[in-house]
Amino acid sequence: MIDTATTSAPASTPRRVLVWDAPVRVFHWLLAASFIGAWLTAESERWMLVHITLGYTVGGLVAFRVLWGLLGTRHARFGDFVRGPRAVVGYLKSLFGAGTAEQPVGHNPAGAWAILGLLGGSALIVASGWATYSELGGDWLGELHEGAASAVLALVFVHVAGVIVSSRLHHQNLVRSMVDGRKRGRPEDGIRHAWRSLAALMVVAVLGFWSWQWTQVPAPGSLAAQWQSDRHGRGHDGGHDDDD
Ligand code: HEM
Repeated sequence: MIDTATTSAPASTPRRVLVWDAPVRVFHWLLAASFIGAWLTAESERWMLVHITLGYTVGGLVAFRVLWGLLGTRHARFGDFVRGPRAVVGYLKSLFGAGTAEQPVGHNPAGAWAILGLLGGSALIVASGWATYSELGGDWLGELHEGAASAVLALVFVHVAGVIVSSRLHHQNLVRSMVDGRKRGRPEDGIRHAWRSLAALMVVAVLGFWSWQWTQVPAPGSLAAQWQSDRHGRGHDGGHDDDD
C-alpha cells in the first residue's frame, strides 16, 4: 500500500490537494491518444503498423493500470472508488435530483463503472485484434474486434459527457485535475508523492516502443516489403479496406 498525506492544516480547510499521481495522468492521456489514434487508423492498410502499434500501447497501458489499481497511491486504487450498484444509484439520484450529490475526492461511483468498462473494453479490443491479426479464429474474431471498438467509443462519449456534467454541477474542472493532479479537498484527502519518476519511465518506455516499431517498417522494394504485401494480398487484413 502506498502513502497518503499527513494532516498539516485544520481538517475543514478545503484547497486544491494532490489526488492523481503522475502515472495515472500519463496513463490517461496516453490511453486517450492511443485509442483515438488507433480508431482513426483502423480502416487503412497504409496505416496498419501505426494501428497495431497503438493497439499494443493500449494493451500495455491497461495492464499497467490494473497493477497500479492494486498497488498504486490511495485514489488510484480500485478499492478507493469501485462501489456497488446501490452507491451508483444513490449518487445519480442525488446528482440529478437535488443536484447535491457529495463529490468524492477520487472517482465518483458512476464514473468508476464507466472507467471499468473502458479498461475491460480496451483489453477486449486488444486481445481480439491480436487474435484476428494472428489468424487464430474465424471472421467472428474480426467482428468482435470491431464491435468492441464501437462499444468502447460509445462509452468514451458517455465518459466525456459525464466529466462535463460532473464538472459543471460540482463547479470543479475535472479535466484540469487530470492534467495537474489536483482537486478540491482537505489536506488529509491528498497523496504525498506524485511518482513523477515512474511516469517519466512510462513515457520513455512508450516512446522507445514506438521508435522500435518504426524500425520494423520494411524499406520499399525490399524482400520484407514484398512479403508483407503478399501477406496482405492473401486477405490478411482483419476486415479492413485496402486503400493503398
Ligand atoms: C479526449 C477526451 C477525454 C477527456 C476530456 C477525458 C477526461 C477524463 C477525466 C477528467 C477523468 C477523471 C474523471 C474523474 O475525476 O473522476 C478521466 C478518467 C479516465 N478516463 Fe478519460 N477523458 C477523455 C478520453 C478518454 C478515452 C478516449 C479513454 C479510453 C479509451 C479514457 C479513459 C479514462 C480512464 C480509464 C479514466 C480513469 C483514470 C484512472 O483512474 O486511471 N478517457 N478522463
